[in-house]
Amino acid sequence: MLEEQIDPNKPDPARVYDWFLDGKTSYPADEQAGQFVAGIWPGVKTAARANRAFIHRAVRWLTGEAGIRQFLDIGTGIPTEPNLHQTAQSLAPDARIVYTDNRLIVLRYAEALMTGTPEGRTAYLHADFFDPPSILGSAEMRAVLDFSQPVALCLNALLHYIADDPERGVTAHDLVAAYVDALPSGSCLVVTHVTSDFDPPTWDRIISGDRAATGQMGQVRTEPEIARFFDGLELVEPGLVPPQDWRPDGPVPAEATHAAVSMWAGVARKP
Ligand SMILES: C[S@@+](CC[C@H](N)C(=O)[O-])C[C@H]1O[C@@H](n2cnc3c(N)ncnc32)[C@H](O)[C@@H]1O
Repeated sequence: MLEEQIDPNKPDPARVYDWFLDGKTSYPADEQAGQFVAGIWPGVKTAARANRAFIHRAVRWLTGEAGIRQFLDIGTGIPTEPNLHQTAQSLAPDARIVYTDNRLIVLRYAEALMTGTPEGRTAYLHADFFDPPSILGSAEMRAVLDFSQPVALCLNALLHYIADDPERGVTAHDLVAAYVDALPSGSCLVVTHVTSDFDPPTWDRIISGDRAATGQMGQVRTEPEIARFFDGLELVEPGLVPPQDWRPDGPVPAEATHAAVSMWAGVARKP
């Protein structure tokens, strides 16, 4: 759902994540939710950093080796330097990026995302992942991205907020498929997602915890469930791995154990 009003008293996923990254855009309710999660999952700040570091390496790979010049980033979050467009445009100044999020706090700070190169373009769309036509059919988005050319669809740390709703017949997998279907051959899908696989007792406590207190985590998934987001696509090396193990630039920090980070990450190409 599109957020219509900022409620400082209710923890918000974008602001709680900003707190995990030691950002400056959270309210006491977000900090309280962050402290609650960190009390159960001590690795959460390490995980947030590992996720951001993965995004930079993946975007460098996409821009450099894969030659991608267009990015659709859904669930962008509050701007955190370096933002995706800064990484892409540092290698390819003509890269074009559309950012999307459904939280008003992200819209409020979106100007910080519009600092791209003159050769490239960046745009921001206030939209909900649950409503693919509002993103894929958006004139603002189509003015920046050319869907006859490859696009990297980036769904980083988003899909665990997207719970399946069998009663409404909505699943995160169907939604991802709707976006991927709209992309031309040569496009890529980038996903990071939290998992209970590496530390089941911690995740039992998070899953059974009060959803409101955790900042509304939607659905924690296992490796096979996350792998299914890539159905019909070709995972690039090293495949679906914890984000810190995806083409690391150097030694992985000692604190970034699989249990501490508790995430899977992958990049795949559409044939
Ligand atoms: C944990 S942050 C991830 C930020 C960034 N992608 C990253 O990985 O660093 C998740 C973001 O997804 C956004 N989000 C959650 N549900 C959404 C939805 N239904 N549509 C669009 N954005 C959503 C939240 O507002 C939040 O900013």
